[in-house]
Amino acid sequence: MNPNLVTYYSQRAAEYEKIYQKPERQKDLQQLSHWLQQCFSGTDLLEIACGTGYWTERIAQTASSILATDINESVINIARSKDYHHTEIAFKVADLYSLDAAMGKNHLLAGFLWSHIPIQELGRFLDQVLSLLPVGGTAVFIDNHFVQGSNLPITHTDEHGNTYQTRYLEDGSAHLILKNFPTESFLHTICQSKVSTMEFYPLEYYWGLKCVK
Ligand SMILES: C[S@@+](CC[C@H](N)C(=O)[O-])C[C@H]1O[C@@H](n2cnc3c(N)ncnc32)[C@H](O)[C@@H]1O
Repeated sequence: MNPNLVTYYSQRAAEYEKIYQKPERQKDLQQLSHWLQQCFSGTDLLEIACGTGYWTERIAQTASSILATDINESVINIARSKDYHHTEIAFKVADLYSLDAAMGKNHLLAGFLWSHIPIQELGRFLDQVLSLLPVGGTAVFIDNHFVQGSNLPITHTDEHGNTYQTRYLEDGSAHLILKNFPTESFLHTICQSKVSTMEFYPLEYYWGLKCVK
């Protein structure tokens, strides 16, 4: 994982959830929440890269328990401060590549992480994520579709096909961030040899992918 990306999300922690206030995305966000709540209803799950707990809060409404992890302590501290009602919840600061199957979960969510993985590292990323699950376990990924006018423009594309955006934080600092917008057929191509079934959930601004190992 690019260390710049980790630092960027650490510095962005306090302002991160503004991204979920965009008016044009509210209907999709509700639908995505509903889909995730169905995917994880009654389950004990592992959340990778939970960030400030925006999705943790939502899936906690139907999940039995959540172990929420992220590499950045600053985002976990915000996630920890939220109220998860009756759901059993634990947090852990951890690099996803240091996690192992001993976490003992059959279900997993990785939100808005896929888009930050360089294309040339997706195979390793997927192998690592799937290694955390038993056969028959489910991995759910959610992320952005590129919508002109709603997403920041792509500033350049590298030799592997990775796309980049220049992002600004409220302190005025500029960050060049790798952000890919995979199509359904690209996701299918990457995942098909590694999972037994795949369900794609398309929205206008977002997509979801549920894979069974
Ligand atoms: C786009 S944010 C998504 C946060 C949250 N899942 C959401 O959708 O609101 C990406 C998150 O990935 C985390 N992250 C980046 N690299 C990571 C790694 N190697 N292991 C675990 N978390 C990582 C960052 O700290 C950041 O919180």
